[in-house]
Amino acid sequence: MLQTGQIIERQDIIRCALCADAPCDAACDKLKPSGFLRSIWFANEQGAAERLPSENPCITCSAPCERYCARPMEVQIKDTINRLYYQVKPESETRVPENEDRLKCEMCGITLENPFLLSSSVVSSTYDMCARAFEEGWAGASFKTVSTLDIHEASPRFSAIHGADGSIIGFKNIEQLSDHSIAENMEIFMKLKNKYPSKFILASIMGQNEAEWGELAALCEENGADAVELNFSCPNMAEGGLGSDIGQIPELVERFSRAAKEKCHIPVLAKLTPNVASLIPAAEAAIRGGADGISAINTIKSLTAVNIHTYVTAPAVHGLSAVGGYSGNAVKPIALRFISELGKDPVLKGKHISGMGGIETWKDALEFILLGAGSVQITTAIMQYGYRIIHDLKDGLNMYLAEKGFNSIRDAIGLALDTVSSTTDVLERDTVIFPRVISERCIGCGRCAVSCGDGGHQAITMNENRRPVLNGRSCVGCHLCILVCPQNAIVPGKKRVRT
Ligand SMILES: Cc1cc2nc3c(=O)[nH]c(=O)nc-3n(C[C@H](O)[C@H](O)[C@H](O)COP(=O)(O)O)c2cc1C
Repeated sequence: MLQTGQIIERQDIIRCALCADAPCDAACDKLKPSGFLRSIWFANEQGAAERLPSENPCITCSAPCERYCARPMEVQIKDTINRLYYQVKPESETRVPENEDRLKCEMCGITLENPFLLSSSVVSSTYDMCARAFEEGWAGASFKTVSTLDIHEASPRFSAIHGADGSIIGFKNIEQLSDHSIAENMEIFMKLKNKYPSKFILASIMGQNEAEWGELAALCEENGADAVELNFSCPNMAEGGLGSDIGQIPELVERFSRAAKEKCHIPVLAKLTPNVASLIPAAEAAIRGGADGISAINTIKSLTAVNIHTYVTAPAVHGLSAVGGYSGNAVKPIALRFISELGKDPVLKGKHISGMGGIETWKDALEFILLGAGSVQITTAIMQYGYRIIHDLKDGLNMYLAEKGFNSIRDAIGLALDTVSSTTDVLERDTVIFPRVISERCIGCGRCAVSCGDGGHQAITMNENRRPVLNGRSCVGCHLCILVCPQNAIVPGKKRVRT
């Protein structure tokens, strides 16, 4: 089984609350179940299977872990560990590599221990936070954006869209920039670099004019930053032509990139806004201005949750709210589209692309890499789950690279690009791929028939045994049934070429 072919899914342990200092761990004297469950949550079940002790302690155990669970008896911990032993372990062909050499990568000539960085935000806003993240295994951090502005944040400042399991799918923030003084932030950079010389310090800055962009870049270099990230993209700093307003105007991107680049000797990345039709004009302008690479995407302008009684959207601040930046797993498809645009642009050939937007698992990160990113950055998943996600990010990606026979991240960068077309009119349209029902998995819910009837081509009926029957003449092979089946019981089947 490949690392990509999961047997146990997040849905199987959906009631696991991913506790800190998990009670299930305290209840078990043989292993720490929470780490295994977390690996499954973050798509690294093979890594989890490998960490199992050789003897299965669950065989004779009465599963106190399940009784002491924060949601008593709601998570099948013993059964999940057994599945790791008896289903996943025997199928795992690749071992987690002994070292992390494959994960090493380069950003503009500087070696990163691995491609995983904190992105500029609250998760990278103090010395202690970055230090803890570095100790946990993150390769570096894009520090919370530094500016000369006097920042006073609103309360509350976040709102979220939740999935059925309670986890955050999409996240809106109205946060602005670092509220530390320049002097405080420079002291932090210096301290971090002295204590962690091998970690990568990316100094995110936002100036108010050319002189300021240059001064801030020079100051960050003097104080130990390895590279500078120009924040042309904060949707919450639009006042007076700052933030994402800059990213929407290529001439300003070019001018401010040049201003920063002229005053420092370290690599400069332009962080771009997704609040445009295409990233290419701004990205090429940044390169013309001397930037060495592009970071993308920042958050997407959004409104969440209109309160149906007060009529105020969220987060409501004294009866008012504002358009703010949307992030988290929900934005990943939008981010991937932009990354592929950058990856394909010949003007950007050889320039570093640092990708972000919705990454939670190593598979998400790999998708960015396959579309051209050389490093990846994360905020919302850390806000939700903590720095600890780095272990499964690294293990999962390391194992995948080994399994594929790749010696380094470099071997994977851009591999998916040739399959992406920006328009659908180039696609082959003569073959229909019919759905196939795996009868052992079908529970007869009829969701496929409902969706096919009301959102498809009326090709599925339910028989007297409550099993779907396909009418091959009506089926157009759209695969809506595959996507809505709650049991994963429908898969692509036979092909038919239209004559
Ligand atoms: C609370 C919050 C604060 C942020 N602050 C900044 C910032 O100061 N500078 C910046 O360049 N991006 C900022 N971002 C954007 C993130 O760095 C990142 O580009 C975006 O959230 C997408 O990644 P994600 O889906 O992993 O969060 C912030 C995001 C969030 C959620």
